[in-house]
Parts: sequence; structure tokens; C-alpha cells
Amino acid sequence: MDIQILPSLLAADFGSLAAEITRACKSGADALHLDVMDAHFVPNLSFGPDVVSLCRRVEPSFYRHVHLMMTRPDLYLETFVRAGAQTVQIHVEADCDLHAELPRIRALGARAAIVLNPETPIEAVFPYFAECDEVLVMTVHPGYGGQSFIADCLPKITALRARAPRIDIMVDGGVNATTALDAVRAGANQLVAGSFLFKQADMAAAVSALRANCAAVC
Ligand code: DX5
Ligand code: ZN
Repeated sequence: MDIQILPSLLAADFGSLAAEITRACKSGADALHLDVMDAHFVPNLSFGPDVVSLCRRVEPSFYRHVHLMMTRPDLYLETFVRAGAQTVQIHVEADCDLHAELPRIRALGARAAIVLNPETPIEAVFPYFAECDEVLVMTVHPGYGGQSFIADCLPKITALRARAPRIDIMVDGGVNATTALDAVRAGANQLVAGSFLFKQADMAAAVSALRANCAAVC
């Protein structure tokens, strides 16, 4: 499977947000990862739909994945799709019925994805395969950028890849030049990287090096 690389806007310089969106787009990355935090599901607040629509306005063709770290994502699905979310990612631990909400995301015209926290067993996503396009395996406890990759999550990726050979498997949290290779070897094909990519003076060089190194191990 082709490897996709997604800068996480959470690590951008918010004083120059439009320029940062363009820098990520021009880096050759495949899509943008947008972290929405509600200060309830996770102990932090980030941004809402206005930032998603800013991304669409600044770089309309740069694909937008929206990761909803929210207790009630079901109340905001229309809002985020209307703002420009093209893949909507909701947590299996959220307080809503995924059998109802994943089809609703698709009916709104977006791709539907499930996210699992590090402590959640992979079996939790098995009942939803027919209703989702992608599974995001968190490799940090969600809420903050810049944390260390939890390698104990790797066997979940391996088990998921064995069970669902064609599904998109994304990893998010602590991804850098080394941990990206561990994730790809385990079976992931989509890599979110926040601080690792945004701290680079030359993001394009980092994206192409990451892509080449990942291709060599998968
Ligand atoms: C964490 C977020 C991640 C975060 C990744 O709650 O879901 O997407 O932005 O940041 P890094 O790559 O710095 O760990
Ligand atoms: Zn995220």
C-alpha cells in the first residue's frame, strides 16, 4: 500500500496559520490532519470548524482529515463536514452509537474513520469494519502534541492489518523518522506527524525522506 503522510496542524505556528497551511501543502504531504479537542473528552481545547474552513480557503485542494477528540462528536458532524472535513474521525470511546454515526458521516459525503485510544483493545473496532473507511490507532494519549510514541500499541496495528488487509490504518502521536518505520513495518499506511514535521526548516525534504524510508520497509 502507498504510504500517506499527514502533517498535524496542531504543531503549526498559529501566529502565521495561513502560511503554515501552505507550507504543509507545498511540502508534498498527502493531506492535513486537524485535531479538534473539546476539553472534556481530552483535557485540552484546540480549535473548531473555523480553522477547518480556513484550511479549505487557503489550500482548497489539500485534503482535510478531521480528528474529533470530543465526547459527543455526533452533535457536530454536519458542522465539520460543512466546514470542509473530507474524512471525519470519531473515537470508539466517545459517547455515541458508532453504528449510527459512521453511516451518517458517509451520508454527509465524507469518509468515516474510527479512532482508538492506546488502552483500547483492537477488538473494539471489529464490529464496525463495514461502516468505516479507515482506523486511526493512537500512539499517544490524545490531548497534546509533542509526546513520545507508545510502542506497546504496535501489536494492535499488526493484528488489525492481519484482520483487515485492505483497510487504511493511520497512526497518530509521537511519529518521527524512527517510529514511522516501526509503524509501517507493523502495517500502518497513513502517518500523522505534528511536531516532527512542523519543526523542520525544510518540511518538503523531511516529507520526501520519510516517504522514501517508509517505502523501503514496506
Ligand atoms: C494528539 C493529536 C495528535 C498530535 C500529534 O492528541 O491527536 O494528532 O497533534 O502530534 P505529535 O506528532 O507532535 O505527537
Ligand atoms: Zn490527531
